[in-house]
Amino acid sequence: MIRPLLKNHPKPDSIEWVVCDKETYMAVEDLLTRDVTFFEPFMVDQFYSDEDFKELKEICLSHNLKNLDYNQHLQKWEEEIELPQHLVDKAINRIRELVGTDDIHHGYYFYTHHQITEDGRKPRLPLHIDFSPGSYFIGLHISSNRDWPCVFKDQIFTIKENQAIIAQTEFDYHWRPSWNSDDPNEYYAVLLFHLRHKNHWSIPNNDPSQDRDPKVNERFPNLGPDFVYSEVHDNYKVQQRKNFDPIYIERHAESDLPPIPWDERPTAEDAAKEKRIKNIGAN
Ligand SMILES: [Fe+2]
Repeated sequence: MIRPLLKNHPKPDSIEWVVCDKETYMAVEDLLTRDVTFFEPFMVDQFYSDEDFKELKEICLSHNLKNLDYNQHLQKWEEEIELPQHLVDKAINRIRELVGTDDIHHGYYFYTHHQITEDGRKPRLPLHIDFSPGSYFIGLHISSNRDWPCVFKDQIFTIKENQAIIAQTEFDYHWRPSWNSDDPNEYYAVLLFHLRHKNHWSIPNNDPSQDRDPKVNERFPNLGPDFVYSEVHDNYKVQQRKNFDPIYIERHAESDLPPIPWDERPTAEDAAKEKRIKNIGAN
């Protein structure tokens, strides 16, 4: 399955530039992909040492769902819970080694719990590409009493405790098959790290930690956490889906992957309630 970047499009001349003109699209794509080390999604066994994973799991499971935010958009509980710094640092060092670059830094992380709610909302993860910072992503399995595979590009992964998927959610299509159960006791809990390179668009133009090409900062003077809500970013993302969804769907149809759960997409009302990411880079 191709990565949805313009250079990979099989028929670039056939693209209708309806939301975003080609020149702007290429500038945003360059902004997003510059300085990124690209790789194919992969699974890691034994992400943490047994001792560290035990500590992490205890912290995660000590949280009562009543005290976690509920994300109505994706129908899951999620919270930027407090973690000891050594566990965050070890995750970042591990992915740096695995991907082969030191330019991976903290963004934010969520402890995420999936389970059917009392009012019958079922966990779901529709086909999408992240809007949020996620040039590098770790999806670590914490605990569950069922499997729930995840598809990144055209690979399907089923992971167990202390196994992780390393991927690039900001660039690649990903989704999960239907939850496919009515059992309210079934749950699936993960810890999701969204990490970024030092020149990521979510670092403000005036932040001394970034050394982006001055021409890039000049072209996009509104870089920082809120750039994700800007019209130029939004238009790029909508145009990207227009360009690449038909290709993904065609190739999915030829694959052995499970069906894409099209009927589980969030309603406009749910989408409007999607909460904004706060405290990016607070750690
Ligand atoms: Fe995602």
